[in-house]
Amino acid sequence: MPEEIIFTSGGTESNNFAIKSTAFSNREKNHIITSKVEHDCVLNSCRWLESQGFKVTYVGVDEFGAVNPLDVKKAITKKTCLVTIMHANNEVGTINNISEIGKICKENGVYFHSDACQSYTKVPIDIKEMNINLLTINSHKIHGPKGVGALFIKKGTKIKAWQSGGSHEFNLRAGTENVSGIIGFAKAVQISNKKNVEYLTKLRDYTIKKIQENINDIKLNGAIGSDRLCNNVNFSFKGIEGEGILLMLSEKRIMVSTGSACSSTSLEASHVLLAMGLKHEIAHGSIRFSFSKYNTIKEIDYLIKVLKPIIAKLRAMSPLYSSDKK
Ligand SMILES: Cc1ncc(COP(=O)(O)O)c(C=O)c1O
Repeated sequence: MPEEIIFTSGGTESNNFAIKSTAFSNREKNHIITSKVEHDCVLNSCRWLESQGFKVTYVGVDEFGAVNPLDVKKAITKKTCLVTIMHANNEVGTINNISEIGKICKENGVYFHSDACQSYTKVPIDIKEMNINLLTINSHKIHGPKGVGALFIKKGTKIKAWQSGGSHEFNLRAGTENVSGIIGFAKAVQISNKKNVEYLTKLRDYTIKKIQENINDIKLNGAIGSDRLCNNVNFSFKGIEGEGILLMLSEKRIMVSTGSACSSTSLEASHVLLAMGLKHEIAHGSIRFSFSKYNTIKEIDYLIKVLKPIIAKLRAMSPLYSSDKK
């Protein structure tokens, strides 16, 4: 129903609103469950709630970056008001079993929020079947304008407006709406289609295969096959720093990231890779390649052509890599 969707300024705002406001609107309970691999806007919202007296359980993930629904089940107490677990991870592309998590939440009378910024239009989402109470999506991940997002709030969910002001968005999000941005977002949704997903899956699998064929001492991070987002590839390159690879690729006009794009100013190892059990030095040597429908096989061939000598050059300079070989 239209009144179940409110428009926001993006994924960050939707996540902040969903988590903080649900927590405060259900204050008689004070426990929230999330995972260790969420986006910073979720983790920092939860940390802030801890500073306000709430208790938060951060469940771990397996070696592929997936949350085990049974860990969520075990963490639920009589005091739990909200579970917030992302649909797909932004760094390693792993898709969580949110149907199972939603089922567990429903059985235990706990609200379920999922951050679907990465999966929206790429992985099917069935709000009813997945028992989702709150769902975050944003526009720029699907080629829509930046600075627009939305939050689905299931009718009957106990949640109050977070910011003070007028009665916009069914009294839930005060402030004049970004109408042109919202129209752009809607258009991006309309023109997204299954063919893009099939194309991106081919591009992803081709890239993984080519990197594995051409470069030694690497590790593919994240899930494989249908448990992985169609547009994500993440590799660790033994013995070297991801930052070095990133800089040298950028000189060749290839833009990649180490960890989350939003953490690109931080040189800390990725919290996602560390939660998956990677050692610091391996996590530091990781690169995330994200694709869009506008990328081509020819561009992937160019990537492989330039990546191979870059890795060799960095490894030749790296005391870490040569000491590995002795
Ligand atoms: C999984 C995830 N959640 C939230 C966000 C934040 O969204 P926004 O940049 O629209 O605030 C991002 C990045 O865009 C993301 O990848």
